[in-house]
Amino acid sequence: MNAPVIAKPAALPIGPDLFKTVSSHWPSGVAVITTAAGDGSLHGLTMSAVIALSLDPMQFLISLDKTSNTLPVLKATKRFCINFLSREQQDICMLFASKAADKFASVSHRLSDLGLPLIEGAVSCISCDVSSIIPSGDHEIMIGDVRDIEHFGGEPLIHFKRTFHQVQPG
Ligand SMILES: Cc1cc2nc3c(=O)[nH]c(=O)nc-3n(C[C@H](O)[C@H](O)[C@H](O)COP(=O)(O)O)c2cc1C
Repeated sequence: MNAPVIAKPAALPIGPDLFKTVSSHWPSGVAVITTAAGDGSLHGLTMSAVIALSLDPMQFLISLDKTSNTLPVLKATKRFCINFLSREQQDICMLFASKAADKFASVSHRLSDLGLPLIEGAVSCISCDVSSIIPSGDHEIMIGDVRDIEHFGGEPLIHFKRTFHQVQPG
C-alpha cells in the first residue's frame, strides 16, 4: 500500500500575508449590513463575517473593522439588517465594499416596519437589535438579537479565493 501523500504547507512565514491567504481559502456567503440613522440617512457595508450564533435566543454575530464608516452609525442606531446577497448581486457587493457617499442611490431597497433598509433581490433579510458589542483586535464584534426575518430564497453569492462563485452541488 502506498503511503498517503501529505501536502507541503505553502512556503510563507506566519504573518499578515499568510493570514489573508488562509482566510481567503475559507468560503463564505456575502451580506450587506444596513442601518438607518436618526436623520434618515442610510448606511451599510459588505460583510462576510456573519455567523448564525444562537437559536435560543435567536442571535447573529457580525464583525466590523474599526475603520468602517458604518460602525459609529451602527453603535448609535443599535439596530441592523443582514441582507444575504443573491448570486446576481456582485455589483451591490462591490458598491457596499466601497466608501461611496450614498451607496443606496442606485440600489433598489425599501424600509421595513422597523425602519431598516432591505435590499431588493436579497435571499434573506434579518433585522436585529444590538445586544452587545465586543472589541477584539482591529475589529468590533456585534451580537444582534433577531427581531424580524424575511426569507425570499434563491441562490447565494459565494466569496472564495478573492473571487465570486455560485453554489455547485457536489
Ligand atoms: C467579500 C467582502 C467581504 C468583506 N467582509 C468584511 C467584514 O466581514 N467586516 C468588515 O468590517 N469589512 C468587510 N469588508 C470590507 C468592507 O465592506 C469595506 O471596508 C467597506 O468599504 C466599509 O464601508 P464603510 O466604511 O462605509 O462602512 C468586506 C469586503 C468584501 C468585498
